[in-house]
Amino acid sequence: MSTMGCSGSGHFSARHHASQNPALEEHWGYVADPIRLERFRRSIGSVVRPGDRVADLGCGSGVLTLLSLQAAAGHVYAIDNSRMLAVARESIARCGFGDRVSFIQGRSQKVELPERVDVVLCDHVGWFGFDYDILALLADARRRFLKSDGVVIPSVIELKLAAVESEACRAVAERWSDADVPAAYRWLRHSSINSKHSVDLETRELLSPPADLGTLALRDDQPDYLSWSAQLRVERDGEVHGLGGWFDCELAAGVRMTNSPLATDRIDRPQVFLPIEAPLRVTAGDSLNATITARPADHLLGWSVAVPTTGQRFSHSTWQGMVLASDDLVRSNPDRVPRPSAEAAARAVVLSYCDGTRSVRDIEQAVLRDHPSLFPSRQEISLFVVQVLGRDTVL
Ligand SMILES: C[S@@+](CC[C@H](N)C(=O)[O-])C[C@H]1O[C@@H](n2cnc3c(N)ncnc32)[C@H](O)[C@@H]1O
Repeated sequence: MSTMGCSGSGHFSARHHASQNPALEEHWGYVADPIRLERFRRSIGSVVRPGDRVADLGCGSGVLTLLSLQAAAGHVYAIDNSRMLAVARESIARCGFGDRVSFIQGRSQKVELPERVDVVLCDHVGWFGFDYDILALLADARRRFLKSDGVVIPSVIELKLAAVESEACRAVAERWSDADVPAAYRWLRHSSINSKHSVDLETRELLSPPADLGTLALRDDQPDYLSWSAQLRVERDGEVHGLGGWFDCELAAGVRMTNSPLATDRIDRPQVFLPIEAPLRVTAGDSLNATITARPADHLLGWSVAVPTTGQRFSHSTWQGMVLASDDLVRSNPDRVPRPSAEAAARAVVLSYCDGTRSVRDIEQAVLRDHPSLFPSRQEISLFVVQVLGRDTVL
């Protein structure tokens, strides 16, 4: 039986467990995945030349920065918008490479680099390949960071799609209609059926061989709206419960990385399950028309399954699954007087000190002096300041 993760969160590690420090647990999953590391080591080794400048977008623990330094990169710009940057800094320093790295806290789209780089690295390959902002991050980095003859890793993402029969996947999609859930909440099934779920599919749960859905060349700009269709050839009698999607990506020439349930050398990353409203009876030899549409910048995903011989059709989207989107709440009541949340108020305090003359140290000291009870400890205040300045300011 499959083990299931939750849908919609930002992390990909299948081995991510709840803990006191979820960020460390998540990154342990990336660092302790030997296949992923071996693929990145080989691709970085084949692309990075001695002395090269490298940008590592979303460096997290810094493990791809480390592989680049081991491949003799001259300098790495390690960029991350989370507190993991401190882990990267400490880990790289422990290897004696600290002087060849600039650690930059912030969203990569807001960061400026002092020079163009030879290689841009980014492991934002989502469960379904394109669904963790990789297209936007790379489009921006190609335009602002990369030399005209520079290289991006990964280079190509191929998307795969198959028909899935899985009671375990279905149970995840249907969990809001469980008998244990109070009746008042069962309406949320509609959201769950219109959500993408992260799952660990097993080969026996595939009713069709995977179809080639589409290819994204990461060297090129992609349209804002993506649309693909595929024919799924059913191989055995059964019930379609939804679609399974995953990626097979080329990191560099001759080096591939996949989360395919069919690959024995897959990395430790779940696939997506896209449910349909009701089980669909099929027999071996049937052909299904499936479509996938996406607007990655808005995290919108649509999917449909149709049986041409019977005319049956299911159509779903994360748009239909959205509940209580914050801007709906605002628009539905234009007379409402908005008040900033506690976090926004704290953020505003920090930003009020950014006057174009104060340094990060000055701002931190001013916040500690004037707002000693912003968070329970001085250390938490300092961390928050660094986080806000990394996210909401430019160099
Ligand atoms: C999937 S993890 C990859 C970590 C690391 N590259 C590795 O290979 O182990 C993605 C990291 O990117 C960071 N991140 C997400 N969006 C970002 C952005 N727009 N700019 C900078 N960092 C970002 C997250 O905080 C997280 O640490």
